[in-house]
Order: sequence, then structure tokens, then C-alpha cells
Amino acid sequence: MLEQGWREGERAGVRFAYTEPSPGRYPWQWYWDSCFAAIAWRHFDPARSRAELETLLGAAEPDGFIGHTIFWERPVSWKRFLFYNVRSRGDFMTRTIQPPVLAYAWRLAVGDPAEVPAIAAHHDWVERERDLEGDGLLWVIQPDETGLDASPQFDPVWGRRAHGLPLFPLLVRRNRRLGFDIRRVREAGGPILCGAMTNVLHGLSRLALGRESITPALVERLWDERAGLFRDEAWPQVSGHVPVTWAALSPLALPDLPGAIGRRIVEEHLLDESRFWLPVPPSSVAADEPAFSPSKDTFLGLRRYWRGPTWINSAWLLWAGLLRLGYEEKARELVDRIAPVVEREGLREYYDPYSGRGMGARDFAWSALVVDMVLGEPPSLELS
Ligand code: GLC
Repeated sequence: MLEQGWREGERAGVRFAYTEPSPGRYPWQWYWDSCFAAIAWRHFDPARSRAELETLLGAAEPDGFIGHTIFWERPVSWKRFLFYNVRSRGDFMTRTIQPPVLAYAWRLAVGDPAEVPAIAAHHDWVERERDLEGDGLLWVIQPDETGLDASPQFDPVWGRRAHGLPLFPLLVRRNRRLGFDIRRVREAGGPILCGAMTNVLHGLSRLALGRESITPALVERLWDERAGLFRDEAWPQVSGHVPVTWAALSPLALPDLPGAIGRRIVEEHLLDESRFWLPVPPSSVAADEPAFSPSKDTFLGLRRYWRGPTWINSAWLLWAGLLRLGYEEKARELVDRIAPVVEREGLREYYDPYSGRGMGARDFAWSALVVDMVLGEPPSLELS
């Protein structure tokens, strides 16, 4: 299935080779999908892991910026132009980011990212442009920059302009006018968001590069001691209830998360059968949230992702956390529940957390991360 999505060619003298997230449905290169695909390729064809990540680097601008979607073979379609974060239809890539997981993927699949100046330059760009307060934590300008597009945790922040709602194109249009520049978006009143999951992947990349950990800053700013989970911070602050999603548990993937915090996340939330530990865990939204929608993900014909079903990249990250904290039996249970579902349904974009029915796109590349789980090879970093 991975093979079917593999694309190679040349554009303006630059060679490219990458895995389409899903042939047909997602025909371009997506930043974090490529990172996950590269991690999966290492089991089958390590040369492809390297080529996939080098293709992201091949798209980088001189200052290190790499967009969220890269249009190697053809420009964005007219229809998608309405809600894709490009300045003009001819743009080679979007002006927004996805979670900066490149250095981490390189470390897991290829080698030492600190030896590759272009990787360091890319992560420097991310920090220069998105660490708005100098504490190491990154901010985003749109829900889709987190990779968790229509997750209900963003509804209170972006309201009717949240991703997957009819007014989302207005948010894109407004940010397009502001050059997708986060400082200008902030000056214009926001909203902007400091998200836990984005910062987990950013933190993993920093560790992979041998840079100082941001875990203490993440705990300091986003850990909710009373609730025992992490919360995103929005500016301006939101009032009202923010649904709890798997992103609140995602710091489990950090190798230096204090054990006491990790155990609270696991015992009070992840393993709770009325919240995340459903028959095919972990659901992308806690099952006791009113917004939890396990088997339906469209609204007025618009696709609304991350509102209940289980995604394999999140399962993979939380599984690594379970293993690190010594919950071997539960980690095994997770694999025993997920692997047969993927085998039966194929590589789907996400799965019904009760029945395991495959949903969304087909031949979805990053679901191949299940291979790590089956082989018992968690993504782990040696901490120096
Ligand atoms: C959806 C997902 C996003 C992913 C993209 C391509 O938009 O929410 O995370 O990168 O599809 O697979």
C-alpha cells in the first residue's frame, strides 16, 4: 500500500520522491504525513525514508521555511484554493506549517539530524517565527497547523471559522491578507494557539537535534494539575468548556516527562474505559465529551476530522509512552486491539473506536506506523 503512493520526479531541476498520504484523496506532499511515512519506510526500504525527508528539505526556502502542503506535480485545484493556505494559486507550497517533526523523523529513520545543516535551519525558522514569547513553546495561527484540523478542542477558539465549518474559508482569507504571518495575526487580535501536541512534536525534534528540552516549559505552561492533563492555551483566552481530546495526553510521548505526570495521564484518562480506552483505543476525543462523534465525520458535506475515531499516529505516540512508563501489559493490549483492525480494514485514515470499521481515506500512509507497534519497536530517543 505504501508503494502505491510513492511518487518520484523532478520539478524545476529539483528531484522529489515522497509518499502521497492517500493516492487520489491527498495527491501532494504533506509535511507531517511524510515524516510518519519515512518512519514507516525504514522497515522496508530505508533509502526511501531518506529520500522522503530530503524531499521536504528540497522544498525549503532559503530561510528554512517548509510549508504544510507542497505541490510538486501540479498546483492546488481551484476548489481547494478557497481553503488552502496559499497566497496565490500558483504557490509551490502553503504558507502555513504542520507540527515540526522533521528532525525527530530523521533521527528515527535516517541518522543524526544535527549533522544536516538544512534540518537545523528549518527548525531555526520554526523557533524564530513561532516561539512568540521566548519560552521555547510554539504558537499556531489556524487549527490545520496542528495537524488535528477539525478537532473539537478548536471550536471554542475559532468558533464558526473553525476547520471543517462553512466559514473556515473566511479565516483563510483573512490570514492570507495578513501574509500568514503570526505576528501580524496577533496584532490583528488573534486568535492564536499554543497547542500541547504541536509542542510535543517540536520538543521531540529539539531533543533529536541535541537541543535543550522544552518539557519543563510545557509542564509549566500547559499542565493542569487539578485535571491531570495538558491544556492548550489560546490568545485571546477562551471562556467556556474546551473538549478534552487525545492531544491533552500527547506529552506522554516525551521521554523526559516526569513519571508522576505521565502516570496520572495514563491512569486517570488514557486507561479510562469511558473516555479513551474504548475497544479500539485511543479515541481522538474523550468519549464522555458532548462533541465526541465516533462514526460520523461530515457536516453539511464538509469533512470534520479528529472528532472521535482512532488515528494510528496518536496510538503510536501514546503506546510509546505506555512502554516507557512500564505499562507493558496495557501497551500490548493496545497493539492487540489495533493491529487486527488494521489487518482487516487495511490502511485507512482512521477507525471507528468501537467497531474498528475503517473510515476516511484509503491506503493511508501513516497508518503503516502500526508496523512499529507489531514489531515492538517504539520510537525512542537516547537522551544525552
Ligand atoms: C487531514 C489531517 C491532516 C493530514 C492531512 C493529509 O487534513 O487532519 O493531519 O496531514 O489530512 O493526510
